[in-house]
Amino acid sequence: MRVAVLGCGVVGTQVVRLLTTQADDLAARVGAPLQLVGVAVRDTSVERDPVVDPALLTADAEGLVTRADVVVEVMGGIEPARGLILRAIEHGAAVVTANKALLAQDGPTLYAAADAAGVDLYFEAAVAGAIPIVRPVRESLVGDRIRRVLGIVNGTTNYVLDKMATEGLDLEQAVKEAQALGYAEADPTADVEGYDAAAKAAILASLAFHTRVSLDDVDREGITALTADDVAWAARTGHVLKLLAIAERGEAEDGTPGVQVRVHPALVPASHPLAGVRGAFNAVFVEAEAAGELMFYGRGAGGAPTASAVLGDVVSVARHRVLGGRGPVESSYADLPVLPAEAA
Ligand code: HSE
Repeated sequence: MRVAVLGCGVVGTQVVRLLTTQADDLAARVGAPLQLVGVAVRDTSVERDPVVDPALLTADAEGLVTRADVVVEVMGGIEPARGLILRAIEHGAAVVTANKALLAQDGPTLYAAADAAGVDLYFEAAVAGAIPIVRPVRESLVGDRIRRVLGIVNGTTNYVLDKMATEGLDLEQAVKEAQALGYAEADPTADVEGYDAAAKAAILASLAFHTRVSLDDVDREGITALTADDVAWAARTGHVLKLLAIAERGEAEDGTPGVQVRVHPALVPASHPLAGVRGAFNAVFVEAEAAGELMFYGRGAGGAPTASAVLGDVVSVARHRVLGGRGPVESSYADLPVLPAEAA
């Protein structure tokens, strides 16, 4: 099973590490060896972690995707990631991506292309890092009716708010720490302005409510307006400030059912389980009619945790190919309208 990796940043390096160091275990689980055939990067001359064999580096991502059975996209951004994923799908490769921004902007195009080609498109790592949340919502709960998804889905902002509350750091200092630890996006504006959380909320809402929610549909407010005084005031009143993503069923003014999705800072009572989510950890609550309340908790950012989710998907899609099948399809949309914020 030939595997190509697109991107060799914080996550890509850890994906290569796991593919290399766990090769025997992975082969046993897949039923065939996973052979890393190339790692596409912008600049092959940059010095990299020694776990990445320089002989595997290539600047020819377009050529690489045509030589793989499984393409792992961990480069981020919209282009060239989008074009490369579509090219991989056209060539019959299964795709694993961690690209939340792309899925939130143009997921339906990618799902439709994968459906048409009969290949897998998996993206557990796109939402909440290591936490298994995409698969439970996409597969395990598909026979239930989800009412609400609520959670902390951005590790950087959770880390920043935590540091502001516990160590009195200002926002800028705390963001620098989050960048140094590999939690923040290349441009941390995506984190602190809530775009990253909004992209994840759009993906979860699309899966939970079988409809198409894009980044533009999400009512979004980040944490940049919050001051040390706000954080201290929250603590004095028995609360913790958290950036929450919320997706829920609602009704428009005329009674039309729909779904409403938003991201904003919220005062969480100190006794609530979400208040205890520290550092770059994430937590997601799902409320479903038959299942009741479920909570998912774990490391939401960082190279190794995210790579864990990527490798889980790689094993799944590679195993489907060995067995001659594929995973769930995305074609059964309910097309619920997305409602404005005040409708919820
Ligand atoms: N920048 C993201 C975060 C990385 O802080 O959660 C994981 O998606």
